[in-house]
Amino acid sequence: MSETRPTKQAEVMVNWNLVFPNQANPSGNMFGGDVMAIMDTTAAMAAKRFSEREVSTVTVEAVHFAKPIMVGDNIKTTARVVAVGNSSMMVKADVYRDIGGNKLMRCVSAFLNFVAFDYQRQPTQVPLLELTPEDEKAHKMALVIKKSAEERAELLKQIEAG
Ligand SMILES: CC(C)(COP(=O)(O)OP(=O)(O)OC[C@H]1O[C@@H](n2cnc3c(N)ncnc32)[C@H](O)[C@@H]1OP(=O)(O)O)[C@@H](O)C(=O)NCCC(=O)NCCS
Repeated sequence: MSETRPTKQAEVMVNWNLVFPNQANPSGNMFGGDVMAIMDTTAAMAAKRFSEREVSTVTVEAVHFAKPIMVGDNIKTTARVVAVGNSSMMVKADVYRDIGGNKLMRCVSAFLNFVAFDYQRQPTQVPLLELTPEDEKAHKMALVIKKSAEERAELLKQIEAG
C-alpha cells in the first residue's frame, strides 16, 4: 500500500549579515558572488527545513541585482519554498538592505532549485506544499520560471545535438 504524501506549509528562513570591505569591489559595492553565497545558504536551509532531508542546489534562475548593496550595510536575506516537484523544491530568496527608519529596500532576488536526497544520495520525495495566501504570487512566478527553464533546456539540447 502506498504512503500518503504529507503536506506542509513552508516557513520563511531569515538571515542577517553586516557587509565587510573584503566582500566589496573598489567602489564599495558588495560582490554579486558573495550575495549569491548568502542567498544559496539561506535558501538551502529553507529547503532542508521543509524537506527534512539533505539538499543540493541544482539551478539558480532569474537572479536580479536590482539595487546595489554597500559596505557597512545591514542586509536581511529571506528564503522560502514556493513550489515543489517530486524531489525538487523551488525557493525564492530576496536580499534587502536596511535603509533605516525600520525600512528595508529589496536589492537582489532569485529562485533557486534544490533536490532532496535520501541516505544513499538518491533524489527522494519531498512533502507537498500547502500554499498560504502570501505564497501565491511567488508560487505563480515559480511556475512561470520552471516552464521557461524547461523550454530553454529543450532548445539548448537541440542546438547542442544539431
Ligand atoms: C541534483 C542531481 C542529483 C540531479 O540529478 P538527475 O540525474 O538530474 O536526477 P533526476 O533526473 O532524478 O532529477 C531529480 C530532480 O532534479 C530535477 N532537476 C534535474 N535537473 C534539473 C535542472 N536542470 N533544472 C531544474 N530541475 C532539475 C528534476 O526535475 C527532478 O525533480 P523532480 O523529482 O521534482 O521531478 C545532480 O544534478 C547533482 O548531483 N548535481 C550536483 C549538485 C551540487 O553539487 N550542487 C552544488 C552544491 S550544493
